[in-house]
Amino acid sequence: MKLYEFTKSYQLFEEAQKYVPNGIYGPRTPAFLTFGSYPAFIQRGEGCRIWDVDGNEYIDYMCSFGTNLLGLKHPKVDAAAKAQWEKADCFTLPSDQWLPLAKKIVGTVNGVDWCVFGKNGSDVTSYAITLARIFTGKRDILLAQGSYHGSHFWCQPHGQGVPEEWKTHVHYFEYNNVNDLKRVLSEHSGTVAGIMLTPHRHDAMKDQELPSKEFVDAVNELSQKDGFMIIVDDIRCGFRLDLAGSSKHYGFNADIQCFGKAMANGYAISVAAAREELKESAKNIFFTGTHFFSGVPFAAALACIDEIQASGAIEYIRKTGTMLMDGLRQSASACGVSVSVTGPPAMPYMTFSNDPLFEMNRFFCGQAARRGIFFHPHHNWFVCAALKESDILQTIDVASVCFKLTKEKFGG
Ligand SMILES: Cc1ncc(COP(=O)(O)O)c(C=O)c1O
Repeated sequence: MKLYEFTKSYQLFEEAQKYVPNGIYGPRTPAFLTFGSYPAFIQRGEGCRIWDVDGNEYIDYMCSFGTNLLGLKHPKVDAAAKAQWEKADCFTLPSDQWLPLAKKIVGTVNGVDWCVFGKNGSDVTSYAITLARIFTGKRDILLAQGSYHGSHFWCQPHGQGVPEEWKTHVHYFEYNNVNDLKRVLSEHSGTVAGIMLTPHRHDAMKDQELPSKEFVDAVNELSQKDGFMIIVDDIRCGFRLDLAGSSKHYGFNADIQCFGKAMANGYAISVAAAREELKESAKNIFFTGTHFFSGVPFAAALACIDEIQASGAIEYIRKTGTMLMDGLRQSASACGVSVSVTGPPAMPYMTFSNDPLFEMNRFFCGQAARRGIFFHPHHNWFVCAALKESDILQTIDVASVCFKLTKEKFGG
């Protein structure tokens, strides 16, 4: 096949540097991918496919970093959004979709009695630590080393201009390591307000790791004993593993749960939800944003959650994700390449053995992108419900070619 070219993408990217620092910032820059082998700008999408500004078509396994669960341009979600849009989006007060969605979240997510809405995941992870601090009257927050919880000052992984003081009361332990968790807890004995955890470990540039039973039990027991809140950051996994939340899926007794991304199939909305006991404390939090109240994403979220349930999307992506993971393992093995394919099937990731700098991964993913398969070399992937068996077969065909090329270039 003729390999994709990205002439227009890179012309636009070059021009964008004049108007925007780095042209594109954050993880969506082609600099974070395999530079030169990926497009910079996307023009349109439908189902599991996207088309870039040069007209190249891809099966998209990044799903806008997880928002696309049901497929792009999903007819039911978009119809609900459009119906609200016909009535207008942003009002001086919340729309009449506010209460129905609050009820839907409380009725759907396990172990929550109330919720608040924001736009991005970062809005609600920041909200959650504030709530834990008010409720417990303590200040320290524990995070797993390498976990991502958003771009706000207290948790952003790097970036200049943020005084160290912003992170003074944030302390780190090793995910899945009970002894290390106990060590950090004992160093901050009596002052820990909450632990924030991703449901499983899905850090960038790492194999994914499911939480061990020992770790889940220890988190649950220690929180009871020491009186800190368990905050589950379900922004990335939420509505992918279990409609009732990933805390339920893995067994964490969460006090506060955060969702975003897939909850509205790409419309901008996030939610923090918690137990009844925390509601009084929540009344003292300053939490708002101009666009927090716009109606269209609420309508989309209502339709999206209903459709995930009605269509059995979670079970479906588990099956197709399993096919993809098995296919990649078999294809790699047939080519004599050693890979590690990890994570739940709804959001798999693949790394190469003996590839500490991710050079093989960047090469493999770049070759796949130039053949119409959009993986990511550094970040876990996502499977959407619009993906069909034929798409997986096409993906594995391309992957086989790319495994051979990777072996030729780097050896086994
Ligand atoms: C686990 C997790 N938490 C929080 C966030 C932050 O969400 P947002 O980028 O919408 O602010 C992300 C985003 O990727 C995430 O994956």
